[in-house]
Amino acid sequence: MEQQHTPHAIVTGATSGIGRAVTDLLVEHGWTVTAVGRDEDRLAAVAAAPQVTPVAFDLETGEPAEIVPDQVDAVVHAAGLLPTASIEEVTDEEWDRVFAVNVTAAMRIARATLPALRASRGTIVFLNSGAGVFSRPKNTVYAATKHALHGLANGLRADVEHDGVRVTSIYPGPTDTPMLSNEDRTPLVRPETVARAVVDAILASEDTQLTDIYVRPRAELS
Ligand SMILES: NC(=O)c1ccc[n+]([C@@H]2O[C@H](COP(=O)([O-])OP(=O)(O)OC[C@H]3O[C@@H](n4cnc5c(N)ncnc54)[C@H](OP(=O)(O)O)[C@@H]3O)[C@@H](O)[C@H]2O)c1
Repeated sequence: MEQQHTPHAIVTGATSGIGRAVTDLLVEHGWTVTAVGRDEDRLAAVAAAPQVTPVAFDLETGEPAEIVPDQVDAVVHAAGLLPTASIEEVTDEEWDRVFAVNVTAAMRIARATLPALRASRGTIVFLNSGAGVFSRPKNTVYAATKHALHGLANGLRADVEHDGVRVTSIYPGPTDTPMLSNEDRTPLVRPETVARAVVDAILASEDTQLTDIYVRPRAELS
């Protein structure tokens, strides 16, 4: 009998929030997942599912090529940092750290997985934000990283779509994860809802790619 192909994804930020919800949902859909994060306890929790391989890895300093398995059908870059400092307050080190995780790691993990994704006709999903399209006051450093990620996604898609690789940007609105520790939780989008959009992009039918998906709260926060 022909062996059934089990699809495999790499998910960064798998220890928390949206990345954790994506990991759980992919497992529900029969995928195996390389779950990337730093927090050992939360990595152990996500790896309670036998389909999940935990990888303790710092995206700020590590080279993602070192953790890429041979078979990759999807990459989800959900790791991210939300700095609160203005550009007058932010240190050069903090600026570099946020760009390293939000942008440079996204580029490096895409670059490292492209050979496998060409072979599998796979999908790259970047967790962007409304801040990747509109800059709001007191959010400039984060918005700068997410605008860069927007440009990375659009350029990369143009570069690789004729090789069969799809690139999707997801733009969540305010979502109920530890990243928004100070917000009133009630009107926020649930991380499981954002995960559904991510998995929709990955499982989209062969004839299309879902390039940009906005996941807003049902009613915008005032
Ligand atoms: N929550 C929102 O309202 C919202 C809205 C729009 C967009 N987004 C975007 O959605 C994505 C997921 O956000 P979230 O709310 O789920 O965030 P979260 O709950 O704060 O989780 C952030 C994740 O990033 C990982 N991470 C941070 N720095 C890392 C590093 N140096 N190396 C490896 N992993 C690192 C963390 O892993 P460890 O803790 O294990 O280090 C954690 O798993 C982010 O890109 C965020 O910008 C979020």
